[in-house]
Amino acid sequence: MSQIPFLRLDRQFENIRHQIMPAIENVLKSGRVLQGVQTKQVEEKIAKVFDLKHCVALNSGTDALSFSIAALGLKPKSRIAVPSMTFIASASAIVQNNCIPVFVDVNPTTMLMDQSKLINLINSNKVDAVIAVHLYGQMQPLRQIVNITKKKKIPVIEDAAQALGSKRNGNPPGQLSDITCLSFDPTKVIGAYGSGGAVMTNSLKFAEKVKLLRYHGNKGAESILTGYNSQIAELQAAIINIKLKFLKSWQERRNRIAEIYLNELNSQNNLSFFKILEGNIHNNHKFVILCDERNKLLSFLDKQGIGTKIHYAIPLHNHKQFRNYSQKNDFEKVEHLSKHIISLPIYPELKEIEIKKVINSIKIFYK
Ligand SMILES: Cc1ncc(COP(=O)(O)O)c(C=O)c1O
Repeated sequence: MSQIPFLRLDRQFENIRHQIMPAIENVLKSGRVLQGVQTKQVEEKIAKVFDLKHCVALNSGTDALSFSIAALGLKPKSRIAVPSMTFIASASAIVQNNCIPVFVDVNPTTMLMDQSKLINLINSNKVDAVIAVHLYGQMQPLRQIVNITKKKKIPVIEDAAQALGSKRNGNPPGQLSDITCLSFDPTKVIGAYGSGGAVMTNSLKFAEKVKLLRYHGNKGAESILTGYNSQIAELQAAIINIKLKFLKSWQERRNRIAEIYLNELNSQNNLSFFKILEGNIHNNHKFVILCDERNKLLSFLDKQGIGTKIHYAIPLHNHKQFRNYSQKNDFEKVEHLSKHIISLPIYPELKEIEIKKVINSIKIFYK
């Protein structure tokens, strides 16, 4: 095991064990393990964080995306724009609904979807919907995009799986789009110790549809449509409810670690960083650097006991499962950047001495 692993859920658990264990016991003692008070509480709290009327908790962020596409009533073969640099689920949810992903290159300064390329696709009637991804925890600017999609009646989904706590111009994700998705994957800023996700929206109609999809289309005793079983466990909801109390303080710590990384590594010639757009508050879910000699740096850090990851090594349009949707779009930027990115460890439990070790190791490598 690395001395500084990429993620330390074990250390996180030790810090909050005194709250987690009684909460787990309470759920088990209550005898209600699905669709109980904990799930309801998560939904209320998350709706508040996103300042949206409805939240439906689910068993994953992937289901949140998939059910959102279904709730919007997008017909099979609808073409849905999605950035080529994101987690697979942002696009597999499209295919799950028999729709067609239209991959879009990224803006090289942020790694977010290239806004002008997306607008060109929308203006030339090449997409029927958009999934905007707030990658690494930085929000994709949507105002200009939504001004056009609204006129064309093109729905917009926000994939905010990585963006709990992030803001743009003072607002959380979800204010400009039709429906927003969240993940409680264990790696996320607030994660379950298992799987979980949620859909947030101001539309009662969409929320009701997602609720039906969550459990077999059941309305009372009758099943009115073919649904799934995507209930979040009460145990996981209880864990999320506890962790949500730390949303602000954990984010402050992440932001501080990002600030230290940036200050200390900014002057390195072989490294560069993505820009935080004016008006954005980054939650620093991930801290991604661009570097020369990536493979050598990765193995050097590994030898130092420092855990790293690549988010994401293969742009989505190059994955085997998506190659059928081959497009002539230009992917120059994402092709290049994906070969240079490394995610450094960033979590509230990271100690000062560990942050220093990561920084010094990178400095030594490039000396
Ligand atoms: C951008 C993005 N979209 C979707 C997902 C899918 O969420 P989940 O893993 O909860 O299914 C994730 C996280 O894993 C993600 O990072």
